[in-house]
Amino acid sequence: MPTVMPSSSPSRRCMDLRPERPVPGIVEDAAAGLLEAPRSLPPKYFYDAVGSALFDRICDTPEYYPTRTEAALLAAHAGEIMRRCQPRALVELGSGTSRKTRHLLRAAPAPARLTYWPLDVCEPVLEAQAIALEQEFPGLAVQPLVGDYHGGLAHLPPMPGPRLFVFLGGTLGNFRHHEALALLQELAVLMAPADALLLGVDRVKSTARLNAAYNDAAGVTAAFNLNLLQVLNRELAADFDPAAFSHHAAYDERAAQIEMALISRHAQQVELGALQRCITLAEGEPIRTEISRKFTPESLRALLAEAGLGLEALYQPEDGSFSLVSARRG
Ligand code: SAH
Ligand code: AVI
Repeated sequence: MPTVMPSSSPSRRCMDLRPERPVPGIVEDAAAGLLEAPRSLPPKYFYDAVGSALFDRICDTPEYYPTRTEAALLAAHAGEIMRRCQPRALVELGSGTSRKTRHLLRAAPAPARLTYWPLDVCEPVLEAQAIALEQEFPGLAVQPLVGDYHGGLAHLPPMPGPRLFVFLGGTLGNFRHHEALALLQELAVLMAPADALLLGVDRVKSTARLNAAYNDAAGVTAAFNLNLLQVLNRELAADFDPAAFSHHAAYDERAAQIEMALISRHAQQVELGALQRCITLAEGEPIRTEISRKFTPESLRALLAEAGLGLEALYQPEDGSFSLVSARRG
């Protein structure tokens, strides 16, 4: 079996990453998460073309500090990171618009010897960025991969090493502990001694600052959260009324995580056509749409160690609001 599926149309840039294990689709996830309380959905369904564009706008809101903080760390340390790893392949999980990755690509000593492999579920963004990046970085090869990192990485195409695996933005925080551990363990097994992992995670900090970051005054995060209902309407032939739900995001200090939900404004029934089911939501009932876990240097180090990864370097701003770490196997 080939490791990647052949492109279905000649103009298509992306390859499909063949999953190692079955990945539930939206119908299965909705059946598992929406039919009974407590209701929830995995965050990957946020990222249709509209959701991805809204996420990009979140990154520019004054309250959402993670993107600009991590970008500043990358701008300052990309040279050192690239010199230390000397990657021939840069594999980025959940690459989105690759906006911060450009710091690493710019610091590549020999772009013509590097291939950038962005992996994401959002194909339109991958396609557009592949074209833009090859124009911006002459000589750089870009090979986008469409897939779900929860399906496993064992079928990544063969590529010359060293490989630099990159997972930015604090996206690991959107995983529950066992999911984060499983992904890091999988990476640790996959990594050769010369490979490295560059991981960005958000840090525990004041509840006020965290709550502001997920409740921006312009309402972009609310729009991002509510767009999920449009995805469900389209993909599940559902009839959610976005005006009947409100955005909720709050930091739970004990769990060290933001919990984001859509709250039913009043008692209502919603048809899920693809499931041939109708659900009844009570007034105030939440549908959990995302968790975003926050780390301390100790909790991050412990997670990496549990996964079989050793911390090589830790970069952080003076206020300790974000961590960018480089790790290797062992
Ligand atoms: N890395 C970027 C984007 C973060 S947003 C940054 O730091 O700004 C999270 C990204 O992960 C989105 O682009 C989304 O499409 C992608 N994503 C979410 N769930 C995914 C999954 N299960 N598999 C692959 N990509 C996923
Ligand atoms: C992608 N991920 C790290 C973002 C976060 O902060 O958890 C998603 C997000 N949700 C609301 N705002 C941003």
